[in-house]
Amino acid sequence: MEISEEKVVAVIMVGGPTKGTRFRPLSFNTPKPLFPLAGQAMVHHPISACKRIPNLAQIFLIGFYEEREFALYVSSISNELKVPVRYLKEDKPHGSAGGLYYFRNMIMEDCPSHIFLLNCDVCCNFPLPDMLEAHRRYGGMGTMLVIKVSAESASQFGELVADPITKELLHYTEKPETFVSDLINCGVYVFTPDIFTAIEGVSTHREDRANLRRVSSFESLQSVTRTFPMDFVRLDQDILSPLAGKKQLYTYETMDFWEQIKTPGMSLKCSALYLAQFRSASPHLLASGDGTKSATVIGDVYVHPSAKVHPTAKIGPNVSISANVRVGAGVRLISCIILDDVEIKENAVIIHSIVGWKSSIGKWSRVQADGDYNAKLGITILGEAVIVEDEAAVINSIVLPNKTLNISVQDEIIL
Ligand code: GDD
Repeated sequence: MEISEEKVVAVIMVGGPTKGTRFRPLSFNTPKPLFPLAGQAMVHHPISACKRIPNLAQIFLIGFYEEREFALYVSSISNELKVPVRYLKEDKPHGSAGGLYYFRNMIMEDCPSHIFLLNCDVCCNFPLPDMLEAHRRYGGMGTMLVIKVSAESASQFGELVADPITKELLHYTEKPETFVSDLINCGVYVFTPDIFTAIEGVSTHREDRANLRRVSSFESLQSVTRTFPMDFVRLDQDILSPLAGKKQLYTYETMDFWEQIKTPGMSLKCSALYLAQFRSASPHLLASGDGTKSATVIGDVYVHPSAKVHPTAKIGPNVSISANVRVGAGVRLISCIILDDVEIKENAVIIHSIVGWKSSIGKWSRVQADGDYNAKLGITILGEAVIVEDEAAVINSIVLPNKTLNISVQDEIIL
């Protein structure tokens, strides 16, 4: 088959409700992959990047959230992008490679020559066509996106060593305790269908080991099956580590932005990165205004078409305003995500904060933080339906859903 006819599919791993717990309280009622960054669901960014892959046949989202949580999103994004997007629900977590394997028959329906696999909780410009081209050149089973990070932060990720000339993956260790390398795994891969054979190999090997031990000791069988259920396979530890140095896996380094989105603080930072990307890729999505007919806009700002912003408000940079939000006269918004149906009354100020769905922010009130994205209280988060009464200040705090604040709070977690 000619390269131009070869089909490609993309799989995005979205996890499930027992993952993403560091994202609370924002993930209480909304699955983390649907949380808006720059006004679009987190998973929308990798999905729209997939659209740029030549000969893309389908996009699958694999997770263990209930189907109904993704149904609306999946049908609207399929219509918008004109590419079938399907949500496939695992009956239980199978691990990042096990989940892929579990749905191998559906993924292979179109006989794709290549399968992209993406973590949904990473933020980057997803250089997928370039990765595919490099992957074809390398001729291996898989190519992974990698980036250099600071030596201090590398241990939170998969650290790896690659051949500087051939780009072959020579060594891989997942979140090592001692420093290996500042080159890390970005959680974005392209594979040939041979990846399924590699995953199958892990389960078969485990089964063989379990059978061996069954003969020798019942206790050791229990420990093998308890630590590694047969159908639970992790991509990093079980596939990437053992295949490193075997001329099967290669790396493609990005020099562009890349972040992992595990906490609300990081979602605010990533919202800023995506807004900045819109400036060159889709400027029509950004708001503009000079304070005459519409509000004064500074830097990159997204405003949902249904939101009502008073012309005397001043918003930006890095502000994202969701559906049906009302922003009153004289309001100042800097570096914040305002979720659906929030009301912000006159002269309120919101800085480095996320304001949860249906919350209400009173007149002359202040919701603020110091903006250290990595610190626990570096941003202020108001959960769903929080009421901040007039003239109250909420500084460096996390407020759980349905609370009413009539006094000022600082450096507190309000349960
Ligand atoms: N469907 C499904 N089922 N998804 C899963 C499962 C599962 O059982 N387990 C994990 N995932 C999804 C997560 O939602 C996430 O998108 C991705 O798979 C990887 O999650 P983890 O296995 O928890 O790894 P991690 O995010 O801590 O680290 C991985 O990504 C880093 C880049 O962000 C590793 O691959 C690191 O090496 C890498 O640096």
